[in-house]
Amino acid sequence: MSQVEAISVIGLGKLGLCTAACFAQNYKVIGVDIDRDKIEMINAGKNPIAETGLTEMISKYKSNLKATADYKEAILNSQVTFIVVATPSEADGTFSNKQLEVSLKQIGAALKEKNSYHLIVITSTVMPGTTDHVAKFILEETSGKVCGKDFSIAYNPEFIALGSVIHDFLNPDFILIGEMREKDGLILEDIYKNTCEHSPRFGRMNCVSAEIAKISLNCYVTMKITYANSLASVCDKVPGADAGVITSAIGLDSRIGKKYLKPGLGYGGPCFPRDNVAFAAFARKVNVKAKLSEMVDEVNRDQITRITKIIEDLLVGDGHDRPVNRKIKEETVVGVLGLSYKPNTHIIEDSQAIDIVELLINEGYKIKVYDPAAIESVRGVLGDSVTYAKSSKECVENSDVVIITTPWEEFKTIDFSKHKKDLAVLDCWSMVDNNVDKINIRYLGKGFKF
Ligand SMILES: NC(=O)c1ccc[n+]([C@@H]2O[C@H](COP(=O)([O-])OP(=O)(O)OC[C@H]3O[C@@H](n4cnc5c(N)ncnc54)[C@H](O)[C@@H]3O)[C@@H](O)[C@H]2O)c1
Repeated sequence: MSQVEAISVIGLGKLGLCTAACFAQNYKVIGVDIDRDKIEMINAGKNPIAETGLTEMISKYKSNLKATADYKEAILNSQVTFIVVATPSEADGTFSNKQLEVSLKQIGAALKEKNSYHLIVITSTVMPGTTDHVAKFILEETSGKVCGKDFSIAYNPEFIALGSVIHDFLNPDFILIGEMREKDGLILEDIYKNTCEHSPRFGRMNCVSAEIAKISLNCYVTMKITYANSLASVCDKVPGADAGVITSAIGLDSRIGKKYLKPGLGYGGPCFPRDNVAFAAFARKVNVKAKLSEMVDEVNRDQITRITKIIEDLLVGDGHDRPVNRKIKEETVVGVLGLSYKPNTHIIEDSQAIDIVELLINEGYKIKVYDPAAIESVRGVLGDSVTYAKSSKECVENSDVVIITTPWEEFKTIDFSKHKKDLAVLDCWSMVDNNVDKINIRYLGKGFKF
């Protein structure tokens, strides 16, 4: 292949459009999507997706970025194609290849008319084995060409977080590349060296190892989060023990590290929970029981009941042995601050804050919620089963218990001084530990201890 001049990106969603905009810094980029409104907006230099810095990137590099619904135009006018369509989870935890297969067939049909080498790169998260066994087969069959000779396939997933996709894409810890041929890995290395803000490190391997590496990395991180929460649930029962202090200390050990080792709520969002479950499903397919992944998922779900129990303790005093009666619950207003699965995003998919609210509603509590960005998404899920506050101040006013469920920066400065008498605050992320008047409120912060 002569030098790469143009890249096509299939699927201009939350990850794909950011990918296209980042590559457009130095390459001609043709993006393909089935959503006509999205295509129109991008071609007008406008941004259809809420993501930090994306509007500026699209506007700055619009002369290099074109969107279309026409696969042939994209494949014939680029040398490398990244596929970033959605791969939603199936009921058994595996990822669906439905959108991927549709796009592979259209890429194959376009490849039929191409005379030069083309590299197809799967970026979507897929089940191990997909690149070698599903993608190769579909592309060879629909193009009538030979993989490794006329075209090739690689697997190159991203480790980005919503809210910081562009920053993460341009500043990766490492780039994971699954390749069928050394030449393809070198092409990808070159593209990333031309795109990233610093010279990235590369982890290159065959495709199936890279597919396993992608989901196992997220499994490891979720295990770390769950370790901290599991430690915290033991410390809950030990007077004086503080899981926040303990994890801060043990995180200083270079074998452990501080990142993601902090007790709080369980993990959520569109990636962590499903990658963990997919790993366990993949292990089952090869007749192995991935006990650790299954247990991490179970302990993570347990956090919802753990937090609800702590709220009961706050209402009747720690160490009670009888359940809080329904009347107390019905007269208790719980203010919930933060509903997105993490700060700086409106995404509520698999957010533990939402799960906690649903459990508290079932228990009979009156719920008032506030989130700086996610309220519109929340209305679609919780409807009129809760009341919606327009600010954190309004959420705190007249609440009996306040829980800080998502660590949005703005919650650090909440003024609890005009609160209702006997207000109890459960600060799951120790956000206001230093600025709260603990004489007048019952505050549970670091380690969930008074
Ligand atoms: N969003 C994340 O945080 C994240 C992080 C890491 C990996 N991933 C992976 O990246 C992939 C994409 O995720 P996303 O969140 O960007 O999905 P998304 O749903 O936001 O975007 C998918 C896009 O693909 C388009 N599309 C669907 N079918 C198509 C087709 N046949 N041809 C062209 N376009 C088509 C849709 O219109 C949409 O714009 C998934 O596999 C996901 O697991 C996502």
